[in-house]
Amino acid sequence: MLSREQIQELLLPIADPETGKSLIELQLIRDILTKEDHISLSLVCLETDEAKRMELEQEVRERLREGGAENVHIRLRDATDHERSLLRRSGTAEGGEEKLKGHTAGLEGHELLREDSGIHFIAIASGKGGVGKSTVTVNLAAALARKGKKVGLIDADIYGFSVPDMMGIEEGPVVEEGTIIPVERFGVKVISMGFFIRENNPVIWRGPMLGKMLRQFFSDVGWGELDYMLLDLPPGTGDVALDVHQMLPQSKEVIVTTPHATAAFVAARAGSMALQTDHEILGVVENMAYYQCSACGQKDYIFGRGGGARLAETLHTDLLGQIPLGAPENHVSELDFSPSVYKAGTDTARLFDDIAERIIIKCE
Ligand SMILES: Nc1ncnc2c1ncn2[C@@H]1O[C@H](COP(=O)(O)OP(=O)(O)O)[C@@H](O)[C@H]1O
Ligand SMILES: [Mg+2]
Repeated sequence: MLSREQIQELLLPIADPETGKSLIELQLIRDILTKEDHISLSLVCLETDEAKRMELEQEVRERLREGGAENVHIRLRDATDHERSLLRRSGTAEGGEEKLKGHTAGLEGHELLREDSGIHFIAIASGKGGVGKSTVTVNLAAALARKGKKVGLIDADIYGFSVPDMMGIEEGPVVEEGTIIPVERFGVKVISMGFFIRENNPVIWRGPMLGKMLRQFFSDVGWGELDYMLLDLPPGTGDVALDVHQMLPQSKEVIVTTPHATAAFVAARAGSMALQTDHEILGVVENMAYYQCSACGQKDYIFGRGGGARLAETLHTDLLGQIPLGAPENHVSELDFSPSVYKAGTDTARLFDDIAERIIIKCE
């Protein structure tokens, strides 16, 4: 049977993917218990990416197996804010490449975030990546702008800040007297993590950095007057998403899913997190809902049917709209080229107009 010390010895070489330091040194392996041939322990995760967490768990299991332990029970748990701040203070969770410098004031009391600011914050959430969260965010933002609303958009998905590319933004923001001026596109003021990162290296973007960046997005950016602020959040229900929830208690949510049953199921987790943290869910957008034949107009529900409606029912909210498959029709040579924004007046843009209308009714 392995002793506690032997277990620690075995696990010493395993590095936390976020900081590169040993899990044991960071004391991220806790509660080691051994009984006969059975080992149980807790693995405290700084990592929020589900796949990476599972990899780490697998590595721990593998090491212990090499050491002769077959019967291992591993509990995964998220690092608490407190644990993170301790790690940060010891300098281990630093290292994100950022160009933004300046004060890191708390969000509390910032004028944008005051209850009487009149700004409607809407976080766009999804259970997992790739369902079209960013696509919905940029098009909803453009649709709200078409309705005459003043709209800001924060691209805060640290795992894939794609908004500038999707909207066809090539320039970065300019700084005027210490204030960052958002880039305006389709009437939407945009700030993206992508503007401030030298290399497109997602690995260096860690949970604690997100909060820091977001704070600066509110404090150092000259948003001007706004009616709506949309946030493209990291997917999932990890503690990054949770941090944002806690940071923006006034934010409402739109949940994006595909019609597929499993996608709707994981989206339900994102939704129930919103409910647990007292965030009002404005509704569900079902993306990639169907493919419409351009010749005969027939709709094929190639990813299944009803996922969005069922999800809305589960979350006691409304299905705000269904968006078909299909890329916007435009060309790189056009001035307002954008890979992901459907142009005003097209069928899909109209569907987003309807969604925007429903949201305006709910918010105002
Ligand atoms: N309705 C749609 N029709 C066709 N392609 C889409 C649609 N929605 C999203 N996509 C494409 O699917 C991919 C993932 O979408 P994206 O918005 O980046 O998802 P997420 O932000 O959830 O990861 C992108 O390449 C995007 O262009
Ligand atoms: Mg995205």
